[in-house]
Amino acid sequence: MRQLPLFLKKKMVHISEREEQLPDQVIEKLIELMVEHPDVLSLGPGEPDFALPKPLIAEVKRLSNQVNHYSPAGGIRELREAICKKVRRDNHIKTSPDNIVVTCGAQEALLLSAACTLDVSEQILLPNPGFMGFLPCFELFDAGIGYYRLNEGNSFVPDPDEIRKQVDPKKTKVILLNSPANPTGSVISKKILEEIADIAVEFDLSIFSDEAYEKIVYDDAKHVSIASLNGLQDRVFTCQSFSKSFAMCGFRLGYVVAPEGFAGAIKKTHIYTSICAPTISQKLGIKALSLSSNYTRAMVREYDERRKVIVKRLNTMGLSTPNPKGAFYTFSNISHINKSSKQFAFDLLKKQRVAVIPGIDFGSEGEGFIRCSFARKLPVIEKALDRIEKFVF
Ligand SMILES: Cc1ncc(COP(=O)(O)O)c(C=O)c1O
Repeated sequence: MRQLPLFLKKKMVHISEREEQLPDQVIEKLIELMVEHPDVLSLGPGEPDFALPKPLIAEVKRLSNQVNHYSPAGGIRELREAICKKVRRDNHIKTSPDNIVVTCGAQEALLLSAACTLDVSEQILLPNPGFMGFLPCFELFDAGIGYYRLNEGNSFVPDPDEIRKQVDPKKTKVILLNSPANPTGSVISKKILEEIADIAVEFDLSIFSDEAYEKIVYDDAKHVSIASLNGLQDRVFTCQSFSKSFAMCGFRLGYVVAPEGFAGAIKKTHIYTSICAPTISQKLGIKALSLSSNYTRAMVREYDERRKVIVKRLNTMGLSTPNPKGAFYTFSNISHINKSSKQFAFDLLKKQRVAVIPGIDFGSEGEGFIRCSFARKLPVIEKALDRIEKFVF
């Protein structure tokens, strides 16, 4: 092989601009610190703290010597049939197994939906603040990113007028919705979804509906899938997950319910990214969908107990915190304390050994807020709250 001069070689081996531009997350540094310093109490985790339901543990053992092969790219037929039954029953989405693609979590479901719908510079509107996984996922495809603001006064529920204002009829192609939401815990009502649906129809837009927390709702909140609304099914990509409902984050299992005719395109990219979701996870998914809903309900009951404690205590210490209607996060206003959210998180960690996530990690509108997860055992939450109280007083 011809030897290249050294200065050329240096230029050739480099990190792509695309990768360079992906945001650095404070969360990564916090996780590192937590692992290195076990005395730190973390309210950072974005995953259930529960063990896998017992019947699933037994199933993993049973499956272990029969899952060493690839699965079909779109997912094992039996699993797609079980998912279809579930989304028809629970989400009222009239679909068929052929429109379902099994993915490595809801994150890959979003990524694959983007790959097959968004051309370069076509715009997707994201919630701000919104889950930190959204922006990089769409930037990877050089999509144009736009935002619609969520605000505290509105309990962080999207305002259809704000969405309409942000739609650029020439550029916007997709609106992303996330309900129940990370990091705010807001849940979008059927009425608001209907208004957003009207906007999507008026401007001929697709909707990516991230419903990873669909089963984790409280009080009178009801999860409604926007794809169940009349006439919406042919423009909605519903992205769901086994991670939160069954405490299966590590199995990396989710799916997208796509409009008729899109599953083939989604499968194509899937083959080039991961080939298929892990076979063991898919088989476990079949078992998970056959379980009684009591397993998930028991988790939600426990989250709810913790939610009541954490919301009350944070408000009592002067950190205004709306009651989350879903998911397992509180989003508290710290703007009266003279620190950026990043500074707040790092000082809290240094002085009181408690980890929380700075709101700025969820977008510019998250500045002035911190996210606390209550996917931790109650005694840990209570001890962390004692320390936060010392820090803010
Ligand atoms: C809103 C939201 N969407 C998607 C994901 C990714 O979930 P999964 O484990 O299914 O990829 C998360 C993970 O925390 C999330 O909070």
